[in-house]
Parts: sequence; structure tokens; C-alpha cells
Amino acid sequence: MIPAYKASIVSITGFFLTLSWGILMSADAKGTFKQAAFGKMPDGTPVYLYTLGNTQGMEVKITNYGGILVSVSVPDKNGKIGDVVLGFDRLEDYLIGHPYFGAIVGRYGNRIAKGRFALGGKTYTLATNNNENHLHGGLKGFDKAVWKAEPLTSGEDVGLKLTYLSKDGEEGYPGNLDVTVTYTLTRHNELRIEYAATTDKPTVVNLTNHSYFNLAGSGTILEHELVINADKFLPVDKGLIPTGLLQSVRGTPMDFMTPEKIGERIDQDFEQLKIGGGYDHCYVLNNPGKGNLSAKAFCTSNGKLLELFTTEPAVQLYTGNFLDGTLKGKGGQIYRKRSGFCLETQHYPDSPNHPAFPSVVLNPGQKYSTTTIYKFSVASSIGSRGGSTPR
Ligand code: GLA
Repeated sequence: MIPAYKASIVSITGFFLTLSWGILMSADAKGTFKQAAFGKMPDGTPVYLYTLGNTQGMEVKITNYGGILVSVSVPDKNGKIGDVVLGFDRLEDYLIGHPYFGAIVGRYGNRIAKGRFALGGKTYTLATNNNENHLHGGLKGFDKAVWKAEPLTSGEDVGLKLTYLSKDGEEGYPGNLDVTVTYTLTRHNELRIEYAATTDKPTVVNLTNHSYFNLAGSGTILEHELVINADKFLPVDKGLIPTGLLQSVRGTPMDFMTPEKIGERIDQDFEQLKIGGGYDHCYVLNNPGKGNLSAKAFCTSNGKLLELFTTEPAVQLYTGNFLDGTLKGKGGQIYRKRSGFCLETQHYPDSPNHPAFPSVVLNPGQKYSTTTIYKFSVASSIGSRGGSTPR
């Protein structure tokens, strides 16, 4: 049972009993869904902010501009609810420009060298927006699109279905790509993201979410403990393009097979950390799959634990190395270097130019379909390697 102010008239599923003392209570304790105006695009297109709530007090706010996760609020070990992602209070701040805070990234997450790749005997030239390289979909990636949004219910859980048509030729990519991203907040404090796409011409696709997490809610993430179930990572060149090799993490500061503080080795004199200005690397997951723990992060001070499950073969660990204190975020917080970390589930960067990497090609008649789950709980420690399986 939850108080009506949580489920209230905005519940899209529950029905309510009026108790004798006049408080509305949900009869079946389901999630809640709210829609509010968030502002307007320069051309007047209205943009909305959607709030999903569950019966555990977890709340997620998503805007259909860029499919951005604006806030993710979860309880700590004392039951205090606090936001664990970086972002802004106002649409205007997102429109000014930002480093992909919480955004859906596409058509291709991370870099494609020199913005060029060949497919079916043809060479495609993409927009270059990261020196000579293409990054996160180009000049106007999916993070800057206004998505169509509709509420969803699935049993006791609530969700938001976002759709976007990326037109043939957009940012240089071939094929009309029909994309659906579904966010679901479950009653077990999981945020499930399902990505789906179809195309009418052969193309390349690599979708992810670029949330910056800070489980402490402020400060840097250097004290967070982290585990990544990956024996190998992809070393990069000076332009942060994978060299094509898979390198063992063993005996290096890249090793997160057992719990380590993010900040413990980040400034070591290790070439790959120097190139990235910290961690900015693709980890090749040992055991991807919806039921297999791929990574977890823990805040020792408040007990918040984040567990990551994904069907994707890799995860990009990015430790906010380019944040420089110039962005003022939610509640006036200044986002300094390493104020957040990203665990971007994805295929390998620059795969279209590395035939040995798992394929990112999508052909007409095929369906692109991947799932990533961020699960939140409280714990007394990060624990050993295992993890809970999402229900
Ligand atoms: C990704 C990249 C980083 C950086 C950020 C956005 O995670 O790997 O190098 O470009 O996005 O600032």
C-alpha cells in the first residue's frame, strides 16, 4: 500500500480506495506516471518531462528531448532519497550544449575514425564532430532529437516508450532507421532500457545511454568502488580510437575484476590512462546477458549500490575526465572533472572499421534489439564478484 500522494490521480494503472480518514490509498500498489511541460525547442516544438515512480520511493525523470534521463532518485541506507545522475533543471540548459548527460546516444555510440566506413562496397562519410573523428552520432545525434513519447504499463511497472525516425542520410548514415527506446522502472528499483531498431538499407547501429552517475549525489566519484566483469579492454590511440588490439587488464590499473576505488589508480603513470586523462575505455565483458552481472559501483558513505546487466558485449567506462567546472547543473552544482562516471553499454567503438570486432551492421528485415538494466539497492559493502539477478 502506498500513500495517495505517491500514486495519486496520475497513476495510469492503479485504482484507489478511500479510507475512512479520507486518505486515498492504492489498492494494488502500482507505479506512477506523470507528464509535465519542460519547455520548447527554438522552433516552438513542445518538450515534456515524464516522471516514473515506484512503490519503493524510486523516481526517474526523463525528457523526450534526446531521451535524456534527467534524474534518477533512489534511497540510501537510511532511506533518504537522492538523485544519482548529473543533469540540468531546465530544458534551456540542455539546449545550450552539454557532454551527453543522460542522453540516448545514436546512431553510433562512441567514435568512428575519420568519420568514414565502408559497407556493401560503398564508402560513407559521416559528420565529424570530435576533431577528425565522428563521435556519438555526429553534429545532431539522437541526443538532440525530439522523440515521440507514450506511457507504458507492464504489470506493476511503468515505462516510457520513445520513438524516433532517423532519416536516410542523416549525419551521413545510410537507411531510414526506425528506433524505439523503452525505459521501464520496475518495483525492484531497476531501470530497464530496451533499444530496438529496423532499417530499410544496410547500415550500422550502436545505441547506448550516456548517464553520468554519482551515487554520493555531489563531489567526485573517486571514492566510489567499482567492479567490471571484464578481463580485457580496448587500448586506444591519441584520438581515442581503438588500436584493434584486445589487451588484458591483469597487472594494470585497468583491472576492475575485483573491487577497486575509481580514484585509486586513475592518475598512475600508465600510458592508456594518460591518453584518456583517466578512464575512457571500452571493456570487453566476460559474460554479457540480461541475468549476468557485468559491473557494479558502490558508494561507501551512503550504501548505494548500482548493478549493471546488459546484453551488449562491452561497456565504456568514462570517468568524466573532460568535465572542467564550466557547467552548472541541477541545484546550482558545479560539475568538475570526475564528478560522474558513465557505464555506456555498447558494441566496440569504431567497429565499422574493424572487421574482427563483433558486427554492428543492421540489414533490412533484421531487428536490432538490446537490453541494459541499471539496478539500485543498498548494501553494507560492494561484496565480492557475484551479484543479484534482476527479477
Ligand atoms: C564518451 C567518450 C568520451 C567523451 C564523452 C563525452 O564517453 O568516450 O571520450 O567524448 O563521451 O564527453
